[in-house]
Amino acid sequence: MSLKGKNAIVTGAAVGLGNAYAEALAAEGVNVAVIDIREDVAKLPAQLAKHHVKVLAFQGDVANPSDVRRVVDTTRSVFGSIDILINNAGVWGASGAEDGLDKSLADYEKIVGTNMKGEYLFGRAVIPIMIEQGKGGEIVNVATDHMVTCGTPHNVCPNLPTCPWNQSKPSFQGPPRPTGGGDQMDLYDAGKWGLNGFLFAWAKALRSHNIRVNGFCMGATDSYMLRSFHNFSPSKEEQASWMRAEDNAQALIDLLNEGPSGRTAENMNFCVGRPVKLEPPRGVKYILPAAVAPAGV
Ligand SMILES: NC(=O)c1ccc[n+]([C@@H]2O[C@H](COP(=O)([O-])OP(=O)(O)OC[C@H]3O[C@@H](n4cnc5c(N)ncnc54)[C@H](O)[C@@H]3O)[C@@H](O)[C@H]2O)c1
Repeated sequence: MSLKGKNAIVTGAAVGLGNAYAEALAAEGVNVAVIDIREDVAKLPAQLAKHHVKVLAFQGDVANPSDVRRVVDTTRSVFGSIDILINNAGVWGASGAEDGLDKSLADYEKIVGTNMKGEYLFGRAVIPIMIEQGKGGEIVNVATDHMVTCGTPHNVCPNLPTCPWNQSKPSFQGPPRPTGGGDQMDLYDAGKWGLNGFLFAWAKALRSHNIRVNGFCMGATDSYMLRSFHNFSPSKEEQASWMRAEDNAQALIDLLNEGPSGRTAENMNFCVGRPVKLEPPRGVKYILPAAVAPAGV
């Protein structure tokens, strides 16, 4: 199956993972529309020109319904259809239980607004179009490995020798890495965990339309966000352990190439120490397999 000629929207594509996803899709011959809050999203048409696909770049906020409407309507009208939605835009900011209300509200709007409301709005805008088109579709939501740490459910963890949390290693001193999220990340993690609500509900509702919905649960990957998290001066050792966005983008292409009978409702974890590649489907967890059995394709 070929992705050539399909049409995609990638959110948060000025830098980081979203930029790598846009590049990889364009290299496969996919027309790409991108939205980013950063001004330099305008560089995307020039960046992707070598792939000879159509490129639309919008500066806007994924949490703003009128920006979402503008992106989706223009993309459909220029490209003719929308086949792929990569809900990638995300922000991190420190937040915690002890914060005061004023800080909390501003943080909530920014962090949950981008990480959860943005995906919600793009889903609501694009899904009716995909259903109306009647030719299936692909939605990938980008979340965090805090949701799948150590391969949650734990029995699927390969416990690889490369994993820094591998308990069978003599060097490993601590407990297994818990799936409880990071420090100062209550809003970041709450927004990302909230994506499971969309993942499972949308996957069930859309399987009969041949629309798949999956999640990429990212661990430390070299990007603007991760560098800013380390005050733009990570140690050499730290940086050497990070995954590369380009490798993850190849996993995205491999996932899309599974086509309509491929997996759906799956959170795939990409965590440090694990090969950055699309692993075989795990089978459906958390919802009844019959609810997402492939329709006739
Ligand atoms: N890099 C990692 O280690 C890592 C780890 C876990 C999860 N993630 C997730 O991966 C996704 C991509 O992150 P990244 O590391 O590439 O980050 P990044 O900061 O390098 O890139 C994110 C992009 O999203 C854009 N963006 C932010 N808020 C936006 C908004 N409201 N509207 C439109 N665009 C917006 C940014 O301007 C930026 O271009 C995010 O959802 C992030 O939470 C990344």
